[in-house]
Amino acid sequence: MDQEQDTVQDEPPEEQPESLLRIEQLSKSYAVPTGRLQVLQTVSFQVQSGEFLAITGPSGSGKTTLLGALDSPDSGEIWLNEIAVHRLRGPAAADFRRQQVGFVFQLYYLLPNLTALENVMAPLLPSRRKLGFDLRQRAKELLERVGLGDRLGHPPARLSGGEQQRVAIARALINSPQLVLADEPTGNLDPATGMEVLEVLRELQRRGRQTLLLVTHDPELAALADKHIPLEQLSRVGA
Ligand SMILES: Nc1ncnc2c1ncn2[C@@H]1O[C@H](COP(=O)(O)OP(=O)(O)OP(=O)(O)O)[C@@H](O)[C@H]1O
Ligand SMILES: [Mg+2]
Repeated sequence: MDQEQDTVQDEPPEEQPESLLRIEQLSKSYAVPTGRLQVLQTVSFQVQSGEFLAITGPSGSGKTTLLGALDSPDSGEIWLNEIAVHRLRGPAAADFRRQQVGFVFQLYYLLPNLTALENVMAPLLPSRRKLGFDLRQRAKELLERVGLGDRLGHPPARLSGGEQQRVAIARALINSPQLVLADEPTGNLDPATGMEVLEVLRELQRRGRQTLLLVTHDPELAALADKHIPLEQLSRVGA
C-alpha cells in the first residue's frame, strides 16, 4: 500500500492530458466603501482540451467574477494554449479574445434591431472580408444546428427566451473559438428549456471539439459536464 502511494507520488503519469486553459493563483477583489472585498483568492485549475468543465457555487460565491477575472485579474496567471493571456494588453488582448474565446451569458445580449442571422454574424462583420469563408452561410448553418433554421429573419423580440439563448450560442461559436465560457446560460429559462439549451451547447461543443467552461449554481446542469468542481475547492487544488 505504502509502496503504491510512493510510486504515485514519485512518478508523474507519462502522458499528461493536454490542458487548453490553465489558471494559476488567480485573485480578484472589488473596491467597496469599507476597503476591498476579496472574492477570489489564489484560484487554480486547468481545463483539458475538448473538455466540458462545470464550476459550481451558490449565488454570490464569485462565479461571474471568475469569468470576468480571466480578462482582468488582480494577480495570477492565465494560460490559454500556452499563451500568457495575463500579459496581453490593449488591442492584442481584445483581438486574442475575439479570436479564441466565445461567451454565452445568462442575459443573451442580442442586438434588438438585428435579425437572428445578423446577430450571429455580428462579431465577425468587421473582419468579414478577411475571413476566407462565407460568414452568412456559416451563421445560417449554426442556426440550423441549434434548431432555428426557420427563424433566421426573426429579431430577438419575436423569439422565445430559449430561442434567443440558442441564437446567443450560435453567435458565441461563429468564430470557432477554442474556448467557450458560459455564465449561467440557462438562468432565464424554465428548467426543461434550460436543459434542452444546454444540451444543444454541449452537442455543438463536442462536434467542434471546443473546450467549454460553464459556471452555474445548478447541480443538474453541472451534471451534464465531463467534470464538475465546487468553486470553493479551487483555492486549494493546485494552489
Ligand atoms: N462590481 C462589484 N463591486 C463590488 N462587489 C461586487 C461586484 N461584483 C460582484 N461583487 C460581489 O462579489 C461577490 C461575487 O459576485 P459574483 O457576481 O461573482 O457571484 P456569482 O457566484 O456569480 O453569483 P450569482 O450565482 O448570483 O450570479 C458578491 O458578494 C458580490 O456582491
Ligand atoms: Mg453570476
